[in-house]
Amino acid sequence: MINRIKEICMETGEIIRAGFGKNFSVEFKTNESNLVTEIDKKAETHILNFIKKNYPSHGILSEESGEFNNNSEYLWVVDPLDGTTNFAHGLPIFAISIGVQKSGETIAGAVYDVMRDVFYSTELGGGAFENDSKISVSSNHNFRRSVLVTGFPYNIADNPDNAIELFIHFLKTTRAVRRLGSAAIDLCYTAKGVFDAFWEVNLHPWDVCAGKLLVEEAGGIVSGFHGEKIDIFSKRILATNKKLNSKMVEEMNKIIKI
Ligand code: IPD
Ligand code: CA
Ligand code: CA
Repeated sequence: MINRIKEICMETGEIIRAGFGKNFSVEFKTNESNLVTEIDKKAETHILNFIKKNYPSHGILSEESGEFNNNSEYLWVVDPLDGTTNFAHGLPIFAISIGVQKSGETIAGAVYDVMRDVFYSTELGGGAFENDSKISVSSNHNFRRSVLVTGFPYNIADNPDNAIELFIHFLKTTRAVRRLGSAAIDLCYTAKGVFDAFWEVNLHPWDVCAGKLLVEEAGGIVSGFHGEKIDIFSKRILATNKKLNSKMVEEMNKIIKI
């Protein structure tokens, strides 16, 4: 299955690269920060046609088009372009994210960093890879020396779930906090040990389906803000290396109330 996912990522990557920096139409979704471009839609159509042709009985949940075949045992969870704001403004940090679930469990996932041409992939129980090399999370156990990454939801003006306070807290207590603008890439960099941890609120299943399995298969922990088990529909995500999960939970709970 990963080979088929790779094939579709490579084809769709070409469509996205061809549109990068060119003129394309842009529409607003919930507000003027939340964009969808003509290229998001083209990329999605290409991916969905591929799935429908090759796996006609499988279900699909995709960011711009919603659900198809929603009573199938298999579910493809698709973000055709994660990092649309970056794409629309000419910043080359964005990805295609595709996860496949069987009976509610993610069994395969891939994130394709389109401009760097790097393919991250994983299968349940089979480890996590950057192209052909196995990757693993960092071994840092020192919170003060950690480098974190996060992102903010499009309704940040309402400061959902203390997103701003958490950011301020970690800025003051760790070595650094980065904000790249693609949750899928944030999770890949956590999986390969560039970042020691990632957190965000109000993400969607298509942002995290592949990346969550990548972090877990790279030896990391993906939980909620109290350290509890989560699924791809959960509203809070914390992804860490093995050593920092409980410390991150302790620090988050100094800020969040519930
Ligand atoms: C967004 C990116 C961003 C995150 C947002 C997401 P999109 O996805 O992953 O990093 O902070 O919350 O919605 O809209 O570019 O596919
Ligand atoms: Ca996304
Ligand atoms: Ca998207």
